[in-house]
Amino acid sequence: MNAIVEQRQQAQLRFQQGEQNIVVGKIENCPLPPEELASLNLNSPYVVEVFDDGLTATVIHLCINGRHYNLKRRRAEARVQNIDGETSFLNEVQRRQDLQALKDKASTAAAFKHIVTTLYADYRLGFILSPWIDGKPLCSFSREIFRQIFDTMFALEQVGLMEWDLCPGNILYDGRQIYLFDFGYMYRFDPLEHYNSDGLASPAFHAVERLETRNVFGYLLRYQDVMTANDQLALYRELKEVGLDIYTQKLIWLKQNFAHPSVIHWQTEIIERWEYALDNDRSLKNLFIAESFRSHCLDIQDDISGKSCTPMTLKRIDKVITMAATVYLQLQNNGALLFDNATLDQLALIKKYQDYRHLAQQYQLK
Ligand SMILES: Nc1ncnc2c1ncn2[C@@H]1O[C@H](COP(=O)(O)OP(=O)(O)O)[C@@H](O)[C@H]1O
Ligand SMILES: [Mg+2]
Repeated sequence: MNAIVEQRQQAQLRFQQGEQNIVVGKIENCPLPPEELASLNLNSPYVVEVFDDGLTATVIHLCINGRHYNLKRRRAEARVQNIDGETSFLNEVQRRQDLQALKDKASTAAAFKHIVTTLYADYRLGFILSPWIDGKPLCSFSREIFRQIFDTMFALEQVGLMEWDLCPGNILYDGRQIYLFDFGYMYRFDPLEHYNSDGLASPAFHAVERLETRNVFGYLLRYQDVMTANDQLALYRELKEVGLDIYTQKLIWLKQNFAHPSVIHWQTEIIERWEYALDNDRSLKNLFIAESFRSHCLDIQDDISGKSCTPMTLKRIDKVITMAATVYLQLQNNGALLFDNATLDQLALIKKYQDYRHLAQQYQLK
C-alpha cells in the first residue's frame, strides 16, 4: 500500500471515530433546522423524489417554499466495501469545505463555477445540502463539454485537488454547462511535487485519463453498435485535442512554478505522445486501442476492489478478453499493460480476466 494514501486513510478513519465535526455554510442557508433535515422522513411533503441507488448516500430532491434542493444523506453503511468507500462521505464533506471556500473567494469563484454550491453540510448530522441542479446525466460529448470538464480539472489541480471519479452519474449537463457535485473520491495532493494523490507511485492516473477511464471508454463501449469506428475515433480526437490544449497550459504553469523535474518530465511525455498520435490517424488508432484497454482494466480493478460490479463491468471484461486474445502484442508494444498486467503473458492475461468475470458476477450490486 502506498504510504501517502495510507496516511490519508488512517487520518480519515481516526476522524471518523472521533468527536470533531465539520460544518460548511451558514445556518441561514438551511430552509429547515439542520436536525430536521437530518431526520426528514421520506414521506414528507417536501420530498419530490428519492435516489436510493447511490453507493454511499441517499439523494433526496426537496422542494421547500418553491425552492429546489438536493439533500445528500450518509448511508448507515457504504455499499463500496473498501476504506475509500467507507470514508467517502467524510471525504466529501472535507472537500465541500475546501471547494466552498474557493467559490466564496472573488479571485477563484469563476474557475469553480462548474462545481455545485454547498449551502450547508454537517458531517456528524450526516448530510450535505446543495441547490438542485436542473440537468441530465451527460448523454453525449462535444469539444465544449470536454473543455468545461478539463478546465475545471486544471483549476482543481492548481489548488491541489484531484478528482478520481468522473463517472457518468457524477456529471450533470443542463444543455449549456456541466456540473460536478460528488466529491467522495476527490483528494488533496501537491501538484508541483506529485503526479496525483498517489504521489509519484502511479503515473498512469491524471485528469484526462480519469474521464476516459470512468466515462468516455465506457460510453464508447455502450454505443459500439451504433457508432462507427470512425465516429468513435473522431470523438476521441476531439477529447485529445482539448486535453492537449489544457495539458500544454498545465505544463507552462508547472514550469513557471518550479515543479519537480519528474512532474515536468511526466507531463511533457504525455503531451509528446498525444501530439504524435494526433499527427495521423494510424497513430491515433494505436493510442485509442492502448488507452481503451488501459481504461477498461483500471475501471474493472476499481469495481472488483470495491466489490461494486455492474453489467457494465462484465461488458468491459469481455472487451478486455477479446482484445487480449486478438491484439496482445500491440497492447504490449504501446504500453497498455499496466501494473501486474505488464508481467503476464498472453494466456495468463486472458486467464486473469476470465477469473475476474466470475468474481464480477458474484459482486454484482443488488
Ligand atoms: N445537486 C444535485 N442536483 C440534481 N441532481 C443531483 C444533485 N446531486 C446529486 N444528484 C443526482 O443524484 C445522483 C447521486 O448523487 P451523488 O452525489 O453522485 O451520490 P453518490 O455519492 O451516491 O454517487 C446523481 O447521479 C445525480 O443524478
Ligand atoms: Mg456519485
